[in-house]
Amino acid sequence: MQKILVIHGPNLKLLGTREVDVYGKVTIDDINKELKKLAKTKKVDLEIVQSDHEGEIVELIGSSKGKFDAILINPAAYTHTSVAIRDAISAVSIPTVEVHLSNIYSREEFRHTSLIAPVARGQVSGFGKMSYLLGLEAAISLIGK
Ligand code: DQA
Repeated sequence: MQKILVIHGPNLKLLGTREVDVYGKVTIDDINKELKKLAKTKKVDLEIVQSDHEGEIVELIGSSKGKFDAILINPAAYTHTSVAIRDAISAVSIPTVEVHLSNIYSREEFRHTSLIAPVARGQVSGFGKMSYLLGLEAAISLIGK
């Protein structure tokens, strides 16, 4: 079975209580449950990780070659700052889909730049938990299922 690595970046474990006016009341568990449901119907395996640590995310991506067929990532705040995560994605050349709950282009200016987007196959931004589900659909279609 093909395997997809799902990475939730920093502060995303706080969803549900964090800035609900921006992110809504959805929790990371709700998102993971729906992702798993979709993966089951599409017959792909998911490994889901949340990390607040840039180095940990870099290591995870760096060791994903040969283990995963695609990566679905919400890099959260690291979207706008992390050359290291961008380089890791570029290094492993595993098809990667970037997702954001909020529309990063309608928020503060510093969120308008994604360092990840140029090395991702595509980006879904602004649809709440649907961003993850659409992103997973995209990742699955990229690996030819
Ligand atoms: C986010 C957007 C980022 O700008 C922010 O730092 C996050 C969440 C989103 O999902 O909308 O933590 O990635």
